[in-house]
Formats: sequence, C-alpha cells, structure tokens
Amino acid sequence: MNGYNPFIFKDRELYCEEVPVREIAREIETPFYLYSSTTLEDHFRSFDKAFHSCPHLICFAVKANSNLAVLNLLGKMGAGADIVSGGELYRALRAGIPADRIVYSGVGKTEKEIQEAIEAGILMFNVESMEELEAISRQARRLRCRARISFRINPDVDPKTHPYISTGLKENKFGLPMSQAFRAYSTASSREELEVVGVDFHIGSQLTQVEPFVDAIKKIRPLLQDLESSGIGLKFIDVGGGLGIRYRDESPPGPDAYARALLSEVKDLPHTLILEPGRSIVGNAGILVTKLLYTKETKAKKFYIIDAAMNDLARPSLYQAYHEILPVVEADGPVYPTDIVGPVCETGDFFARERPMPCLNRGSLIAAMSAGAYGFTMSSNYNSRPRVAEVMVRGSQFAIIRRRETYADLVRGEEIW
Ligand code: LLP
Repeated sequence: MNGYNPFIFKDRELYCEEVPVREIAREIETPFYLYSSTTLEDHFRSFDKAFHSCPHLICFAVKANSNLAVLNLLGKMGAGADIVSGGELYRALRAGIPADRIVYSGVGKTEKEIQEAIEAGILMFNVESMEELEAISRQARRLRCRARISFRINPDVDPKTHPYISTGLKENKFGLPMSQAFRAYSTASSREELEVVGVDFHIGSQLTQVEPFVDAIKKIRPLLQDLESSGIGLKFIDVGGGLGIRYRDESPPGPDAYARALLSEVKDLPHTLILEPGRSIVGNAGILVTKLLYTKETKAKKFYIIDAAMNDLARPSLYQAYHEILPVVEADGPVYPTDIVGPVCETGDFFARERPMPCLNRGSLIAAMSAGAYGFTMSSNYNSRPRVAEVMVRGSQFAIIRRRETYADLVRGEEIW
C-alpha cells in the first residue's frame, strides 16, 4: 500500500526484512505464517498520518488478523480495535488495547457478549437492528450503566467488490436501512441507559476505488443534519474499513488518496472520524510459507502438492482469490502451467490453478504472498490438521508468536462417552 515492501529477493532468495525465509524454515516446521513488524508499523503510521488533519481513531479490524502480538504492536502505536465477538473483545483486551478504543460491530451480538462489552467499558456498540438495541438497553439497565451506541446504517451503495464481501447493499444483512434510521435514533436518544454517540457504516472489503466510500458519506450526511436539528448531536462518524490492497495488478488508492477523498466530504464537520481498516494494514505484511511435498504430472495437468491447504488459507477456495505464489529460491528454466494444491480431500483445495511455475524439487519452499489478512484468522482444523505457527520478523530477528498446534490441541475438550 506504500513504499515499504519487506518481502524482496536478494541473491535470488526471498527475505522478510533482513532474514532469509529459508533460514526461518530451517528452524520452524512449514507451513507457517510470517509477518513483518516493520511493515505493520509502516502501514499503520501511513494511515494515521493521512488523517492527521482531522480528529480520528483507527480501530484495527481484529477479524483480519487477531494474533496478540499483532494487536499489541498496533495498540502500542495508538490503534483501537473493531471487534465482532466476545472472543475478539477478549483478544483485544488481552493484547493491551484500552477498552475506550474498542468499537463493537456485527449483526448477532449475544446478550452475554453485550454484557461483557458493557462491563469492559467499550467506546461504542455499532447497533445493527432494533432488537439488538433492546438487548443493549436491557443489559445496560441491569448493570446500571449507560451504554454508548451508534447505529450502523446501510447506505445501499455498490462497493464493486466480490459479492461475498459486499456489505452495504440493501439486500445485505448489515445495518439499518436509511428509511428507519431517524426513528431508531429518536427511540435510542429517549433512553436513560443509552448514550447515542455516533453513526457508522461499512460497505464492503477489498474496495479499489474511493467513489463508493464518498457516495456512502454523501448518503449519510442528510441524516446527520436531521439529527442535529432535532437536538441529537453525535461525536463520531465511523466509516468502517474496506480499503483494498494489491494482490496481483489492482491499483487501490493509497491511504493518502483515501483520506483526501473522505476528508473532502467531512472536513466541515466537528466529528471524530473512526476508521476500521483490516486488510490494508496487515494484508501485505504477511505471507504463508509452505513446502513442496510432491509433483504429479498427468496428461491433463501438472500438480504441485504442498503442505499447506484450504484449511490454512481459505481465500482461494472460498472466493477464487488470487495470491501470488513464489518459489522462495528463484528457479531458472521454463515454466509450466501448474495447479498448486494442498493435501485436503476436496477438489476445491487449491491455492492457484494453471499458474506458470518453474520446475522445483521436492522440499522446495513456496510462499503464498499477501496472506497477512484473513489468512490465519480464517484457518480451521479441517481434516484434523493442526493450525500452523505464526512468526514475526523485526529487522534481523524473528520470533514465534503462535506455536503450531499439537495433536493434543486437536482433541482438547473432547470426551469419549
Ligand atoms: N469493519 C467491519 C464492520 C467489517 O465487517 C470489516 C470486514 C472491516 C471493518 C474490515 O474490512 P477490511 O478493511 O479488512 O476490508 N474474509 C474476506 C473479507 C471479509 C471482510 C469482512 N468484514 C476476505 O478474505 O477477503
């Protein structure tokens, strides 16, 4: 997303910052996720700087990467957290992110989760339905607290991204329709136990243009005016996340262009801007390192069978997402269209199809690039595969920030009956 790229080839081999990936793989069994802390810092700083002219809070979307070390690093730089579950609240707090920098989104918060978040003292709930508002009211009364809320509005704009990750169209399950917004605010502001503090939207993920963000703000502004004239003044405008990254040849706006576009729509307003970036902070700060187990050639196909699978990185199977696949040590010679597949027993278990790849030997390391966001967090134990390790690099050092799961981890909590 900006100048710093930690994953570069030196002497024909892939480095993460100053460490050869091969050196890490000598010590840590593949597959593993590998993150560059300098890149995380760099991305966060660029984002923060881009909005310097306006009061703002960057609430990192924990769902993109919820490792405690990642959250802690961002928290120390001033980030808050956008959470969507009690588990994410637990992680954010454990990582040292102050509760008053946490916003809670999501259509299905349970009463228990609401209670935990009120007790923790989060900055605000982004409320997505009137029944949820009732649940928050109920819990706040019971706990004799005031809960801070904003409503998530569905602005009905097309984010022009993959349909599974569009969230701001009227047929999506997210937010309240604009037509119900004013009444919702009137109801909430009449409640003792609620403090109405903001308005929120999030229209989708991996957006590569600024226009949909701008359209959404334009659609929200008349509501702000109506509320203001009825004496309902808000402190926060939460514009969600969604800024895309380059996986292949996309050219999404950088944080500066993104900030310019947003700020031009809100610069006359006194509100604090809340941003919920996930992918744009962490996506290109991480890769998945795997090893070539076997090569198989048929009349129809050439397959590289690697030791990582759809349970480790779900995005290609789930969204046909493109991830660059690179041999960790550059190889000469001709390239052949190759399917890069994992050991899971499903035809959908692939990282790439018909991808031009050079000839590689068994045991060669292969990296799936741009895997720092929605990589580990979407991994599972399918096929009883232990979840992989996560490793972080800082300069010439590296550390395991989550150890690989063991077989005992796989059956933890199970009982034979
Ligand atoms: N805020 C809310 C309320 C969200 O639902 C999301 C993402 C974000 C912020 C962060 O969006 P980002 O800046 O990362 O685009 N698994 C999919 C992406 C799902 C995104 C869900 N919501 C993928 O791998 O592409």
